[in-house]
Amino acid sequence: MKNYEKNLDEACAKFRKILEEQLTRVEDMKAQGDFTDYESLETIKIGVCGGDGIGPTITAEAERVLRFILDDLVKSGKITFVTIDGLTLENRIAALKAIPDDVMAALKACDIILKGPTTTPQKGSGMPNIESANVAMRKALDLFANIRPVKVPEEGINWTIFRENTEGGYAVGSSGFNVTEDLAVDFTVTTKQGSDRIARLAYDYARKNGLDRVSLVTKANVIKTTDGNFLEDCHKVAELYPEITTDEWYADIMTAKLIDKKRRRDFKVLLLPNLYGDIISDEAAEFQGGVGTAGCANIGKKYAMFEAIHGSAPRMVNEGRAQYADPCSMLRACVMLLSHIGYQDRADKLERALDICSFEEKKLVITGRPGGATCAEFGDYVMETLKSL
Ligand code: IPM
Ligand code: MG
Repeated sequence: MKNYEKNLDEACAKFRKILEEQLTRVEDMKAQGDFTDYESLETIKIGVCGGDGIGPTITAEAERVLRFILDDLVKSGKITFVTIDGLTLENRIAALKAIPDDVMAALKACDIILKGPTTTPQKGSGMPNIESANVAMRKALDLFANIRPVKVPEEGINWTIFRENTEGGYAVGSSGFNVTEDLAVDFTVTTKQGSDRIARLAYDYARKNGLDRVSLVTKANVIKTTDGNFLEDCHKVAELYPEITTDEWYADIMTAKLIDKKRRRDFKVLLLPNLYGDIISDEAAEFQGGVGTAGCANIGKKYAMFEAIHGSAPRMVNEGRAQYADPCSMLRACVMLLSHIGYQDRADKLERALDICSFEEKKLVITGRPGGATCAEFGDYVMETLKSL
């Protein structure tokens, strides 16, 4: 038996630090106030971060359409747009930080963020091992709910995924370590406060939208403590919503049931811990036309950030095809943004225009390549359609 004492001591010290940080986070959650009331703000500041790869192209298009929809409110001063330039891979590598300090300060000075996809350096890529900017932003701004709608009307699919966004495998995802050269550990984290707040949001959404079913998705048969607690806390919240049926699924069988055409139309609201939500939302988006068509809301009490669910597609940029990128994911994110800040009528109109352009009329089709429509042409098409509504 080798002597591992030193390794064990070091590992325990690291683990202790992780636990202390998480306990501080729990105290912060307990101290948190209520959701921002956008109506009471004199000005709603929307920060726009382009990101990497195709990010700047599709984000600029989304901003153009958003400005068009909010024109009167921009003129009256109720809404302002702020460009936040520095969230690029180069700057992050230079600062060796997921989000450079000046960018973080600029983000925190806004109420709402519209964010393009960012590139996450992977282990072994030759780039420094920096945490994903998405994950860092969700944690730093405490954006605990990742809401991902998926809709395929002709298949009867209308799902809203409520993915817990700050805990699970992501809470300390970049703080795992090698205990010895043979043994590595990562951690997954669940807190009572974290599970309770995402569950309340999901059940509230179901109630407000007349949806009578919430499906809980975990691997509590294997990951017994953290997933087990998540389930238990969700059930406690469910008791406050007696008109809603709650059912439980394991994540593996849920991925299978989503391709079962007879069963999948029964799902309405899915409520999941972070990692399962990440995986299942990509699968779900595929039925709708791929991740390029899906946007999401990252909601916290104080801040909210809206983004695509896909990555930055550096290959499209390297092959000179960025102008053919599909802005629909970011435009769908704008629908959620408009709804979140209280302009539901404008959100409905944009959603209607996107449905017309993408599913019904389809005058322009984006293929991601020359021959297909460009991102800007599609933006024009959406604005033309909006004028006719
Ligand atoms: C998403 C993405 C991110 C995640 C990546 C880019 C870190 O896949 O928003 O779903 O895993 O959350
Ligand atoms: Mg994902």
